[in-house]
Amino acid sequence: MGCMEGKVAFITGGGGGIGRATTERFVQEGARVAVAEINAGLGEETVAAAREKGGDAFFVHCDVTDRASVERALAETVARYGKLDVLHNNAGGATPNDGPVTEAPEEEFWRAIKLDLFGTFLCSKLAIPHIIKAGGGSIINMSSVVALMGMPGRDCYTASKGGVSALTRSMAVEYAPARIRVNAIAPSVTLSDRVKKMLDGSSKATEELAASHLLGLGLPIHIANMAVYLASDQSAITTGQIFPVDSGVTIR
Ligand SMILES: NC(=O)c1ccc[n+]([C@@H]2O[C@H](COP(=O)([O-])OP(=O)(O)OC[C@H]3O[C@@H](n4cnc5c(N)ncnc54)[C@H](O)[C@@H]3O)[C@@H](O)[C@H]2O)c1
Repeated sequence: MGCMEGKVAFITGGGGGIGRATTERFVQEGARVAVAEINAGLGEETVAAAREKGGDAFFVHCDVTDRASVERALAETVARYGKLDVLHNNAGGATPNDGPVTEAPEEEFWRAIKLDLFGTFLCSKLAIPHIIKAGGGSIINMSSVVALMGMPGRDCYTASKGGVSALTRSMAVEYAPARIRVNAIAPSVTLSDRVKKMLDGSSKATEELAASHLLGLGLPIHIANMAVYLASDQSAITTGQIFPVDSGVTIR
């Protein structure tokens, strides 16, 4: 029996790199999963892959920055599966338009804040009442090592992930009485398709990055495995924490 048997999870950005790997791991562990995605093609592909392995998942269209869309997606999930136990606020990501504050366009700042930080706030706001009805559960936010270190070159993204980390701690205290645990994962470079594209096939850039990672660059499955732990009852007294899954980058 899997460690998530009987649980219902809602994964935002569930069609993309880390979200897709997490959907696959959650269904493998017995969870039923709503793949809440803005990109229908990616969402459907992920669901097909999960079902091929015998898992129970469905695609639900969701834009995490739009209240009506999130409300609808959560309502569909609860109508289909009867409850909600786990919210994984995964949708987000940096773009090549980012940079130091003096150079980054203001539009990029608001893009990152809206998607990563406001999206996390909004989905939590609308999902928490459902999780309370289920008797408690787990929220997993997606931070980044940029929120733990002084890393140059991505100040819009860094600001938004710093906000996600701070929000993780305050929400953990606020919703502990309702038995909701709130944690965040802080990955370092993880080779999702988006990141591979950003590295643009540059073997030099990839080699340089790999050299600063003690155990090599991460893969989506490494992050998904941490999400399984945080979503399951194995982490029953773990809350308010930011977990680096970072190949040792933050200890160097
Ligand atoms: N890959 C990395 O190196 C890395 C490192 C640190 C943190 N992270 C974080 O992990 C998360 C996932 O990253 P990834 O590399 O898998 O990204 P990805 O781009 O591969 O996947 C993100 C998914 O989110 C979806 N999405 C985008 N906007 C959305 C919206 N408004 N509503 C719903 N879905 C939306 C995309 O369609 C995509 O499927 C992000 O929060 C990212 O910041 C990634």
